[in-house]
Amino acid sequence: MEEIQSTYYGAYYEPLKELEQEVLGWLSELVDGLSDRQGERPVEHIRSRIKSADGMREKLARKDLPQDAETAVGAISDIIGFRLVTHFVGDVYELVKSMKADGRYFVVKEKDYIASPKPNGYRSYHVIIECPFPPAAKGTIRVEIQLRTIAMDCWASLEHEMRYKKNINNAALIEKELKRCAGEMASTDLSMQTLRDMIREPGKGGKS
Ligand code: GTP
Ligand code: MG
Repeated sequence: MEEIQSTYYGAYYEPLKELEQEVLGWLSELVDGLSDRQGERPVEHIRSRIKSADGMREKLARKDLPQDAETAVGAISDIIGFRLVTHFVGDVYELVKSMKADGRYFVVKEKDYIASPKPNGYRSYHVIIECPFPPAAKGTIRVEIQLRTIAMDCWASLEHEMRYKKNINNAALIEKELKRCAGEMASTDLSMQTLRDMIREPGKGGKS
């Protein structure tokens, strides 16, 4: 049976939920700011989650760490995770720029899996920020923000689903096809970006 989150995280649980709401509010403000500047909303949806107790135990075990909440808070950067799903690739970079320009939280790490996709085809932009978190021994905690387009999100969902269902007989073929799909979706993302740029700035990027 699944362990209850509030039992696993104990005294950290309520502060974690509060921080989740706080960062969600911050991200919404950044999205609103960008919407005002662009005149259209760049984000299709924002989601957040606190990692399940089972997921956290599994991750700590994988990293050869003790499986308690204190270790999780100190060593794991995605207890609280956010996902911003944008319409266009350019929106991802605009949002990352806003996060850094705003300066409310310190950006500890960035991974641009859009410019450098993972070997399996995975694309996303990951940002790790550091937030004040008084209950932690260090007084801070790291949280992960994933930014990706609708197309990248679609691919990642399907890949995640299939990862657990791969049949050993055709795993190699499935992997190859998934990677090909990721490439096709990325090229569609670029075409859509070009169309958007043409609509927004007639005269640039194509015949008008
Ligand atoms: P962990 O994998 O979380 O231990 O950390 P890491 O240092 O490898 O970070 P990475 O940036 O590679 O991945 C962090 C998160 O990104 C994962 O928990 C997933 O949510 C997502 N992710 C990374 N790679 C993939 C992938 O190949 N497919 C899918 N669907 N999601 C991925
Ligand atoms: Mg990983």
